[in-house]
Amino acid sequence: MYDDIDLHDDISEILVTEEEIRSKIVELGEQIARDYQGKNLLLLGTLKGAVPFIADLARAIHLPLEIDYMAISSYGNSSHSSGVVRILKDLEGPIDQKHVLIVEDIVDSGLTLHYQMEVLRQRRPLSLRVCALLDKGRERVKAVKLDYTGFHIPNRFVVGYGLDYAQLYRNLPYVGILKPSVYEEDVEPETHHRSPVEGD
Ligand code: IMP
Ligand code: MG
Repeated sequence: MYDDIDLHDDISEILVTEEEIRSKIVELGEQIARDYQGKNLLLLGTLKGAVPFIADLARAIHLPLEIDYMAISSYGNSSHSSGVVRILKDLEGPIDQKHVLIVEDIVDSGLTLHYQMEVLRQRRPLSLRVCALLDKGRERVKAVKLDYTGFHIPNRFVVGYGLDYAQLYRNLPYVGILKPSVYEEDVEPETHHRSPVEGD
């Protein structure tokens, strides 16, 4: 199906197909619509990775809702996990009258999300919950509760549907694993030990 497009040549394995993503989002959208009926819902997307997911999810939630974005720099190196998360782009307005649902592409160590939630809690939203497309099967550095989860995936570095490697591959319609030859020195990135990345 994708044979004629170069971008797909770099993928060794598809972990979650386009079709699986599509039907899961319908399911999540219905569940979220039931839970937030009659409430002021704000979907909060984290730039840049959550953009495809929030765009599709928002259209699967048949309720009036607002959408806003935050960009944060996540320091993915657990040995330097000082807990510093810098806000690069903040929300447009106050959230104290809103039910906030954070929409995330992937939760790995949990560090970014943990500190983002701490910042948001101080602003006293009516409620604060999390919807993550992917939950990586590894121990969290920081425990965070995921209220809605799309898929549990193995502890591998993945790209596509918003997720990048060196800012590329976000536009793949599925979630997959790159061929080792794509990486420098053929080594798959350890997501807990990456250098600081901004606006992931
Ligand atoms: P954390 O380790 O839970 O703080 O993950 C922070 C961010 O790292 C995620 O929101 C993603 O943007 C990025 N990330 C984690 N795992 C992967 C991956 O496998 N591929 C691409 N980006 C990832
Ligand atoms: Mg992210």
